[in-house]
Amino acid sequence: MKSLLNIGIGIITSVMLVSCFDSAKPNYQYMPNMYEPIGYETYGESEIFPNEQVAMLPAEGSVPRGYMPYDYPDTTEGLNLAKEELTNPIPVTEENLAKGKELYDIYCGVCHGDKGDGQGILMQREKILGIPSYADPGRVITPGGTYHVQMYGLNSMGSYASQTNELERWQITHHVMNLKAALEGTPLATPETEASMATAEGDTETAGEEGTEENN
Ligand code: HEC
Repeated sequence: MKSLLNIGIGIITSVMLVSCFDSAKPNYQYMPNMYEPIGYETYGESEIFPNEQVAMLPAEGSVPRGYMPYDYPDTTEGLNLAKEELTNPIPVTEENLAKGKELYDIYCGVCHGDKGDGQGILMQREKILGIPSYADPGRVITPGGTYHVQMYGLNSMGSYASQTNELERWQITHHVMNLKAALEGTPLATPETEASMATAEGDTETAGEEGTEENN
């Protein structure tokens, strides 16, 4: 009789204990220092920070690693200035040309056409109108301008700044300038023509090689 009572008390106590347990809340922590770090949690709370939130915005003017600020404003003056003074800093190599063509075919060909004549599939199906040929004499298409419109877009053309990085945009720019040259019947830029230009200027070192060491 006594043991039956004990079992009864045991069952009732465990039912009471289990019914108090809330699965939506964290369980009891034994040795909490195993769970709670001494340092601040990146997205944690702490009253010494503004809004009691540890994660804060970077200080104004911070530049992420590997990111190059782009100073030309998104205006017609900015575009014209970039057209005039901004030049392609990466050398013409087989790799840069191949990568530029690959990315161009992915991002730009649908509108501008594989040849850059403005006859992409979206133009043929009249989804987007007013796509210029790169050889359009009314638009002076230069490497700087091509980079600029990839950064900001231009009217119905969108920006490609989030899909491509700086190097990729300059690789695409090499390809665009070669499409333009092919349309106009002028010589294409190839690794060989660039090498001969560099020796003519007495500057055999390429800009690309100088930059790499600083990044390490
Ligand atoms: C959705 C269609 C579309 C796509 C995709 C597109 N463009 Fe354009 N692009 C346009 C249109 C439309 C214009 C003319 C904009 C205007 O002048 O109003 C233009 C203009 C240009 C110009 C001429 C700018 C000038 O100086 O007048 C260049 C260069 C150019 N695009 C390059 C590119 C490159 C490089 C890509 C791929 C990264 C690309 N475009 C993707 C539609 C597109």
